[in-house]
Amino acid sequence: MPAIVIIGAQWGDEGKGKATDLLGSRIDYVVKFNGGNNAGHTVVIGDEKYALHLLPSGILTDGVIPVIANGVVIDIEVLFEELDALIARGVDVSKLVVSANAHVITQYHRTLDKVTERFLGKRQIGTTGRGIGPSYADKINRVGIRIQDIFDENILRQKVEGALHSKNQLLVKLYNRRAITVDEIVDDLTSYAERLRPMVTDTGLLLNQALDAGKTVLFEGGQATMLDVDHGTYPFVTSSNSTSGGASTGSGIGPNRIERVIGIVKAYTTRVGAGPFPTELDDEWGEYLRAQGHEYGTTTGRPRRTGWYDAPIARYSARINGVTDFVMTKLDVLSGLEKIPVCVAYDVDGVRVEEVPVSQSDFHHAIPIYEDFPGWSEDITGARTFEDLPKNAQEYVLAIEAMSGARISAIGVGPGRDEIVVRHDLLG
Ligand code: IMP
Repeated sequence: MPAIVIIGAQWGDEGKGKATDLLGSRIDYVVKFNGGNNAGHTVVIGDEKYALHLLPSGILTDGVIPVIANGVVIDIEVLFEELDALIARGVDVSKLVVSANAHVITQYHRTLDKVTERFLGKRQIGTTGRGIGPSYADKINRVGIRIQDIFDENILRQKVEGALHSKNQLLVKLYNRRAITVDEIVDDLTSYAERLRPMVTDTGLLLNQALDAGKTVLFEGGQATMLDVDHGTYPFVTSSNSTSGGASTGSGIGPNRIERVIGIVKAYTTRVGAGPFPTELDDEWGEYLRAQGHEYGTTTGRPRRTGWYDAPIARYSARINGVTDFVMTKLDVLSGLEKIPVCVAYDVDGVRVEEVPVSQSDFHHAIPIYEDFPGWSEDITGARTFEDLPKNAQEYVLAIEAMSGARISAIGVGPGRDEIVVRHDLLG
């Protein structure tokens, strides 16, 4: 079987776990290819809920090999905290492999993330404060520290010296913070070396060999299309490629290996952090969606911004990612509404615009043009086939499908793993 990519098609938190669960036992490898511990998915082990931020969700499935690939930035302390918490709950984490080329997040990245945000004032991005942006900035600036550097103290020391030289000037002279010493960073990173070493490998080689051997490899995108550094609402984005192309560069497999791209969309829209969001609701309906959908961040606990479904965004995502199938989540959250507005186009300074505008200013000015669809009052959590859904729910899904640029192959109807309506096999 081929490589399959799962990506968020909006601004994140679409519920990718639903699609991962659906693929379940047919997956041999789960690969995280971008981002770091800015992501967040809640997993349930027995009666316990646990939030994972860095580890790929596949870590919990027996028989699956979880991979942290080269495109990821790793906070090693967080990596071991998450592993230890899982070990304490009896989870076998011994299969995890980590790319030698992945970059690390150090204390100076976390510090810089927080102070630069504070200094941005009104122009704040609203980052998760985990050091993601500064670590990727060092990677692109060619002053980053990679996992493989940790195993050679001489090289590590030279690289940390190089990285800290200008950062300490910034920290002390501009941001009024204390300087960070080379020793404290080197001591911290080398303290993990022994435990880390057995996990580290050439994950690009491993994944290509797995694909050659006919294994099924799932690439799980962190964040989402509209937070992609190239294709999202820049500068209000994360610092990595969270679109399907990132699966190739972030892991070392060729793009022609990818046969399916599964885009996850919520039946409405949410966003955390700052930046444009045309269908955002600041009224009681926004509060209604937040309460019904439990829209609070897994990583930061921040209340999410909420709004109606935005079809131009879905179409844009279908195009940028080459989406073959959408999985729509949380349709049940809309049950009980008399009418459901869907954004079908935008009004930009008096002109009707069908697609996401390329100009940042135009996107900031975009006012949604809504079409109202009749709602349904029935509880849909028991639906397992499309025909089980009330007529109006079916029509809502079909209308959205027609506007969104790819088929909707599965529909989440409740929080439980099996509360899903499957229309087309995601691997078929
Ligand atoms: P950073 O990734 O911490 O640099 O944050 C940049 C932007 O991406 C902020 O608006 C964050 O709220 C957003 N972001 C980062 N990770 C996630 C996620 O997993 N879900 C939703 N938004 C995210």
